[in-house]
Amino acid sequence: MNKVSIIGSGNVGSTTALYLAEKKLADIYLFDVVEGLPRGKALDAEEGAPIRRYDIEIRGTEDFSALTDSDVVVITAGVARRPGMSRDDLLATNSKIMKSVAEKVAQYTPNSIIVVVSNPLDVMAYLALKVTGFALKRVVGMAGILDSTRFRYFIAQKLGISVADTTAIVLGGHGDSMVPLPRYTTVSGIPITELLPRDTIEKLIERTRKGGAEIVSYLKTGSAFYAPAAAVAEMVECIIRDKRRILPCSAYLRGEYGIEGLFVGVPVLLGKNGVEKIIELELTPDEKDALQNSASAVENVIEKLEGLGLL
Ligand code: NAI
Ligand code: 2OP
Repeated sequence: MNKVSIIGSGNVGSTTALYLAEKKLADIYLFDVVEGLPRGKALDAEEGAPIRRYDIEIRGTEDFSALTDSDVVVITAGVARRPGMSRDDLLATNSKIMKSVAEKVAQYTPNSIIVVVSNPLDVMAYLALKVTGFALKRVVGMAGILDSTRFRYFIAQKLGISVADTTAIVLGGHGDSMVPLPRYTTVSGIPITELLPRDTIEKLIERTRKGGAEIVSYLKTGSAFYAPAAAVAEMVECIIRDKRRILPCSAYLRGEYGIEGLFVGVPVLLGKNGVEKIIELELTPDEKDALQNSASAVENVIEKLEGLGLL
């Protein structure tokens, strides 16, 4: 049986565990620093197994050594934002947490693939890579699938159609400058530019960019977790089952799209080794500028990270 460990058993971590359990892909280990929390969540989830019929194991632990030999480690540890905060406001707290967690991952499960979720996402993925020293393809960030599923949902709502036939690509950093690409966003293969007027698409793009903040404004005490966990589970499934799907993920770029040495959201071929390939799309000058602008925003936060002395 494969093994997936989830570090951080809060909203995203525990919901991811449930979605993964339903997929019956792997045994699941939930980890947290809060005494009892991961064991309580794991036991609660397992008690639902006879009804939901997942016959995998779900274990909770506060001991890192239990994560040994994980195939995939999902890192959701950290604080979530509250109203008025940007994802970047989480940097100081979450970078310390990420550093300590990544060190333990490298120590206890050095052959795993890491899916980073904690925010600010692209910078936390960068930190996880630098701290673990893992091969570039074995550290990948979740954001593009979430941003794309939001865009897909808004499009389906606007057109009054099923979400099933929608596809979308959102590039760039997981922040307000993310770059939804209408030309590559379709309903049954038809680009949405042929189905919706330009100003309507612009409004849907804006709502997508602010999608995380919209949920925070309702929840007040935290941020989204159902759609994020669904996105993480999709990535983990793709890796464990070597599905080789092309999905928008945050990957370390070495010159692709003219971006060097940063994690930024791009279409990725995701398989059993992690980021098997980065797909380079032909972009218009405007799209290129928007992506460059988004990459610069990620770079600015990395400079702040360097200022914290954690690298
Ligand atoms: P949460 O507060 O519900 O859970 C976070 C958990 O991390 C808590 O249980 C906490 O005890 C734990 N934790 C803190 N320090 C830890 C450590 N050193 N080791 C292990 N666990 C530790 O927060 P939620 O909603 O689950 O979000 C988690 C993170 O994911 C946040 O940073 C949030 O911004 C981010 N996020 C990112 C998304 C994305 O698209 N990339 C989407 C949704 C959330
Ligand atoms: C979101 O977009 C919290 O980054 C997360 O909902």
